[in-house]
Amino acid sequence: MCTPDGIKPALTAAVVSQHELVGTGLWRMALSVPTWSGKEPEPGQFIMLRVSEGFEPLLARPFGVAGFERNGESAVIEIIYRVVGRGTGLMARWVPGREASFLGPLGRGFTLPPEGSRTILVAGGVGLPPLLAMARRLSALGRAREVTLLYGESSRDRLLHLELRTFPGVGTFTCTEDGSCGTAGLVTDLLAPRLDEKGTHLFVCGPSPMIKAVRGMVAGRGLAAQYSLEARMACGFGVCSGCAVMIAGRGYVRVCREGPVFDGDELTEESFGDI
Ligand SMILES: Cc1cc2nc3c(=O)[nH]c(=O)nc-3n(C[C@H](O)[C@H](O)[C@H](O)COP(=O)(O)OP(=O)(O)OC[C@H]3O[C@@H](n4cnc5c(N)ncnc54)[C@H](O)[C@@H]3O)c2cc1C
Ligand code: FES
Repeated sequence: MCTPDGIKPALTAAVVSQHELVGTGLWRMALSVPTWSGKEPEPGQFIMLRVSEGFEPLLARPFGVAGFERNGESAVIEIIYRVVGRGTGLMARWVPGREASFLGPLGRGFTLPPEGSRTILVAGGVGLPPLLAMARRLSALGRAREVTLLYGESSRDRLLHLELRTFPGVGTFTCTEDGSCGTAGLVTDLLAPRLDEKGTHLFVCGPSPMIKAVRGMVAGRGLAAQYSLEARMACGFGVCSGCAVMIAGRGYVRVCREGPVFDGDELTEESFGDI
């Protein structure tokens, strides 16, 4: 099957090489790909992982690429996911050695900020993985000291601690809604006092209400912001239109193809539906 713009999505064969519990209901999975023919995924891109060999569930599930390492012909893709329903429930039972397959990397990722700019990564819950990829990319470019990572969850047990220690130089601040770890409150509370500096670039990923709130805080300040949107995805590569959202001046566009990352000025109130 081809997409309307002629791209043929092909499944990539992989093997689960690591699978560990990294928080309550939170898993990290490394997928080894024996033959990697594509480019390195951009931070913000995602894969559509087949969660069943059969028809139940039929549809693959989208996960942001949290990490990527290439070793000659082969590569390892890392995802971090929370168990929320049938598909992720099945994935949680996978053991190393299991064969897997996915489409991707897919979608439009984040555009890197100009060198020397102040970069704030704002992550809510499992919005964290693509921002870890961003922190990793900027660290690899020797730009860790430009980066501040703000990470919010509802409580301590749901936080992913492990990864946050691996980016020396990145200023990391955590909050929980119940105050059980880090600052008590929402990630927007961590962000509010940091919005004054001109030339700040924001990268935001998390639940839609959080994205909407951050967009409201940033409005009128002249700060550059890129947002990774959530949508239920069926195909993940542009043919079903199931993931369409309203974008300023363009009408409905597909989150899986034209996104999931959008610039702040592309979003309107209507981009968030009824929330
Ligand atoms: C571009 C993109 C990247 C994503 N990256 C990650 C990631 O890195 N880690 C991660 O844990 N999750 C990520 N998600 C969400 C993840 O795809 C869903 O949690 C997963 O598909 C749920 O599958 P399920 O079969 O377990 O749940 P289902 O049985 O299909 O649904 C269970 C519950 O999860 C909610 N849900 C399902 N899909 C989504 C979705 N796309 N957005 C919001 N809520 C959803 C449903 O509304 C329902 O309440 C991403 C989603 C998108 C669109
Ligand atoms: S999920 Fe099918 S077009 Fe986006």
